[in-house]
Amino acid sequence: MTDVPGPRSSQLLVRREAAVARAVSTMLPVFVTRAGGGVIEDVDGNSLIDFGSGIAVVGVGNAAAHVVAGVQEQVAQFTHTCFMITPYEGYVAVCEELARLTPGDHEKRSALFNSGAEAVENAVKVARAHTGRQAVVVFDHAYHGRTNLTLALTAKNMPYKHTFGPFAPEVYRMPMAYPYRWPTGPDRCGPEAAAAVISAIDKQVGAEDVACVLIEPIQGEGGFVVPGEGFLPALAEYCRENGIVFAADEVQTGFGRTGAWFACEHEGVVPDLVATAKGIAGGLPLAAVTGRAEIMDSVHVGGLGGTFGGNPVACAAALGAIRTIEEQDLVAAARRIGEVMLARLRQLQRRHPAVGDVRGRGAMVAVELVEPGTTTPDPAMTQAVARACHSAGLVVLTCGTFGNVLRFLPPLVIPDHLLAEGLDLVDQAFAAVSGRGQVAAPV
Ligand SMILES: Cc1ncc(COP(=O)(O)O)c(C=O)c1O
Repeated sequence: MTDVPGPRSSQLLVRREAAVARAVSTMLPVFVTRAGGGVIEDVDGNSLIDFGSGIAVVGVGNAAAHVVAGVQEQVAQFTHTCFMITPYEGYVAVCEELARLTPGDHEKRSALFNSGAEAVENAVKVARAHTGRQAVVVFDHAYHGRTNLTLALTAKNMPYKHTFGPFAPEVYRMPMAYPYRWPTGPDRCGPEAAAAVISAIDKQVGAEDVACVLIEPIQGEGGFVVPGEGFLPALAEYCRENGIVFAADEVQTGFGRTGAWFACEHEGVVPDLVATAKGIAGGLPLAAVTGRAEIMDSVHVGGLGGTFGGNPVACAAALGAIRTIEEQDLVAAARRIGEVMLARLRQLQRRHPAVGDVRGRGAMVAVELVEPGTTTPDPAMTQAVARACHSAGLVVLTCGTFGNVLRFLPPLVIPDHLLAEGLDLVDQAFAAVSGRGQVAAPV
């Protein structure tokens, strides 16, 4: 292992600085030559263990065989015609797969796009067109993207919203069922938060004016917040009773990541609309809105689309990724990864009082760092542990409204020994950063 970054990456960084806008940040400045199977190789010959999956994208790996084969075949046939001009089968096949895999056995329709933000924007368009209403309900700690409407939907100012307003109107932010930080404790969080949200919608917005309630079934950038039990079902029920579209942003949680095809399934919730992206196509840019046929088809002809949306190469990649998830049963793999990570991180919590909370589902797991004995966020320690992991050759990401969450998103194909090695490195990073050595673990 060279220093991180090594000499060649450092040279490329100089070129990067002169050519790439500095606003596009880089968390770990090593330049990649190859990646796959939970390993990222850089231009200096270093091998890093990947606990980030390019932000929850390459669950199937960075060069999954079916994805590569599908892409190669398609790219040699044609790269683009535009589905809105002359269609092709791959687009239809992806929509059929989405109808089969997303929660609920009702009739569904899908439309394909390029990014998670674009999918979320279109979900809002569909909900507004269907209901004839304008208001959109979103939540504290939400992250839905970086376009103007999705910034309005996103909760966090820095770095996402700062200086970029004004933002789109008719967006109403509600409390999130955040068990670790719920005043009366995690057990009461789900029902109490649902009651608070429903009361606020009724009083401040008016149910009859709400087009959709939009929620990440497990929050991603906001801190891997798994909502208190009962919160999602109560909101879905309220939406049903009031003609409100319940829209799930499964951009980060979809395609097996949480140990189910979609995170809504953990509580048996069937959303009216689902936005997907990230893990859908093994690393190629593709996104979708899938929903009840009568809702999706209430939009006028020509109202949805885009030049590149549902690009044939991206569709071929998606079909390859879905086949990989099914053939290798990566949904079950995600569950196993979750069991291993949660067990190890709970051990870590017993040794390090700075670990306030360990949470997550499947291969979407995080630790929240606080000043010992309090719930005061400790973003400095979080950064220090992340940096120690990076120096040791482990790619980990941070997140959270308070910048104090270390999140782990290994590819679902990661072999057991690499998962264990990565967790050893996390352990060592905590030991090094806490400096004071490790507190003896209670048995
Ligand atoms: C839950 C969620 N929604 C939307 C987005 C935006 O997706 P994209 O970056 O592809 O626009 C993200 C990205 O992190 C996300 O996690």
